[in-house]
Amino acid sequence: MSDNSLISLILDSVLKEAMGLNISSIGANSLKHAIGRRMRALEMENTLQYLNLIKKSTPELNELIEEVAVNETWFFRDEAPFIALREYATAFFQQGKNKSLRLLSIPCSTGEEPYSMAMTLIEAGIPAHSFTIDAVDISRRSLEVARQGIYRPNSFRTTYAKRYQGYFSKTRQSYALDKSIKGLIRFHRGNLLHLTPPLTKTTYNVIFCRNLLIYLDSSFHQKAIDTFSALLDDAGLLFIGHAESGIFSHSRFTQAPHPKAFAFYKRPEESEKKSSKYLSGNASANASAFLFKNSVSYANATITHTPTNRYGELDSLDHQIKAHEDQIQKQGPTAESFYQLATIFEQKNEWKSAISMLKKAIYLDPNSIEAIDMLAAIYQRLGDEANYQSCLNRGRRIITRLAMPTDPNI
Ligand SMILES: C[S@@+](CC[C@H](N)C(=O)[O-])C[C@H]1O[C@@H](n2cnc3c(N)ncnc32)[C@H](O)[C@@H]1O
Repeated sequence: MSDNSLISLILDSVLKEAMGLNISSIGANSLKHAIGRRMRALEMENTLQYLNLIKKSTPELNELIEEVAVNETWFFRDEAPFIALREYATAFFQQGKNKSLRLLSIPCSTGEEPYSMAMTLIEAGIPAHSFTIDAVDISRRSLEVARQGIYRPNSFRTTYAKRYQGYFSKTRQSYALDKSIKGLIRFHRGNLLHLTPPLTKTTYNVIFCRNLLIYLDSSFHQKAIDTFSALLDDAGLLFIGHAESGIFSHSRFTQAPHPKAFAFYKRPEESEKKSSKYLSGNASANASAFLFKNSVSYANATITHTPTNRYGELDSLDHQIKAHEDQIQKQGPTAESFYQLATIFEQKNEWKSAISMLKKAIYLDPNSIEAIDMLAAIYQRLGDEANYQSCLNRGRRIITRLAMPTDPNI
């Protein structure tokens, strides 16, 4: 084995353990440059000596983490999640929930994401005292930038983000965020794979975890999903990055009807599902009812949001379609697989295929509230009033049935 392969092997295991990183996601060259920068900083010439140091020294390991962490981010990245957040939060408060809305951004990198969440809520007319936002990242350096709240023009890459520049005071080359927004975020240093209190003592209504899972070794995906499951409120929404949705197939999460937002909500646990025919006041039934009611307004909110034709995203959707089709071939059709296919066709604006998949899902599981919910939203979007009403009625009947126990012993 060459020295280079040995070094990669050792660092692979060290970084995997420390932050879950799959080294191939950043590439061998990035890793080589990262070590080079650290060795120059330490005036060290022997790589093996550096490897010995990294195994013993936590401060040095933290420095290496800073070098390999990809902290690329910008305000209102992807836009659609923030539109969906606004809809969700508005509906949350319209439901008479006068409690606080709790939000989490992990990883928050240099702060653009949690600040975008805060500006979205403030612009939606939600008073600052009605929500809290925790923002977490493993990188100390990124958190320092986040706390300062001073940004370069590069953090505003879209026209949508530029609309919010009124919240910044512009200096020669930078934008300083107003303290009325800065003060709304509680920043914490933390590792998604080893979260500690107070974060683990809270449940959140909204979690943004975008563009981290793609860097994690697949052996940590389940752990991440379990963490979201524990942290997310039963009627809460989890937002992930557009390249990450494949990780959630066959999980307890199912895609919510927000085109291009890559939002997921929790399905009932297997144990809850068994008794779901008689669910009464159960959080899962409430979650479905809540989403069902609101998907209608989501449909309106997103109808004019045409795709910017991001080829990478469309390619990745085609990949996901192929993966689901292969799985149906191998394991046979299920309501869930057709529903997942429908969500992908929906993101591609392929309504006919989405409708066909949803009908198959409902045929296999006539109580699938998610599928009926999404079908209603699509019919409404297409202006098909008769089918839209028929789906709404069918959904209401199911929700009413689920909410009324017929067997008091269950
Ligand atoms: C590409 S940024 C994503 C930022 C933002 N969510 C977005 O989508 O624009 C990835 C961030 O993940 C952080 N990170 C990497 N591994 C982590 C871990 N195990 N726990 C928490 N943060 C981590 C990095 O420090 C980096 O800031």
